Amino acid sequence: MIKKEDINLTMLSIPYVKSKHLDDKQSRKIIEKFENAKDYQIDCDAVYDGFLTRNVIARHAYLSEKINKYKHSFEQLLILSVGLDTKPDTLPALKDKNCFGLDIAANDIKNIYTYSQTQTKTKILQCDFQKDIHSALLDKLEHAGMIRSKPTYIIWEGGTFYIDASDIYHTLQYLCHHLNIIGCSIDFMNKDLFSPPRHQKAKKQLQLVEKIGVPWKSFFSKEALEKMFKKLGFTDIAITLHGEYEKKALGNINLDEDIMYMATAVRKEI
Ligand SMILES: C[S@@+](CC[C@H](N)C(=O)[O-])C[C@H]1O[C@@H](n2cnc3c(N)ncnc32)[C@H](O)[C@@H]1O
Repeated sequence: MIKKEDINLTMLSIPYVKSKHLDDKQSRKIIEKFENAKDYQIDCDAVYDGFLTRNVIARHAYLSEKINKYKHSFEQLLILSVGLDTKPDTLPALKDKNCFGLDIAANDIKNIYTYSQTQTKTKILQCDFQKDIHSALLDKLEHAGMIRSKPTYIIWEGGTFYIDASDIYHTLQYLCHHLNIIGCSIDFMNKDLFSPPRHQKAKKQLQLVEKIGVPWKSFFSKEALEKMFKKLGFTDIAITLHGEYEKKALGNINLDEDIMYMATAVRKEI
């Protein structure tokens, strides 16, 4: 049984937004029994121009587009910081793909699925990117059915900023070295906006995540991202501003256009 006070509210706020704004039935079922599912969304939207809601909608549009674009080039999807992501169960492009999700809160996630009587096809595995990146992780993935030689795509959505930059690099570097990673799509908080905070709203957002015990730890510039992806061996690197997808998905830009970077990096041959 899950104790309500132990539930990660940032994780639960995402299916809340998807159920309300994206007509995602799987998300609706997940949050149905949690009356506090919207708490983080309300606080976060209040301090910063509807940030959480608009961000979840924009980044979901971005990642769905990239998954669709590359669906013929990969057979397995590896989702880092998977949380309660419903893409494997809702996107037609993922219907025939094996999907694996890593998360520090794997047990909470499995409990939430059980408690809400919801099924996911994602194989959810425990992993803390700040300490579990070594060979035991590869064994766990293989045990769950991953085939290391098969072309694999990575998505990492709404998760990098909870991890130190050096651990982000180490995680990606290890996975690229040991698996057949053909590409990845990942979002990152913009250093120019948050470190130091550009204005009061950014400052309040940082205070909010600090207060609820999930402080943001990493922020990137476009140049640093390009350098990191090149170092990881990717050849085609495209870095987009959050505003582009906020406009595409919601029709206008309410947030700072450059609040986040959305990055996709692939190997030339795909
Ligand atoms: C805001 S949620 C995003 C979840 C999901 N990607 C989505 O968009 O629906 C952030 C996720 O990062 C996970 N996380 C935080 N720190 C982590 C760590 N050190 N290692 C692995 N996962 C972590 C949390 O458990 C949570 O599921």
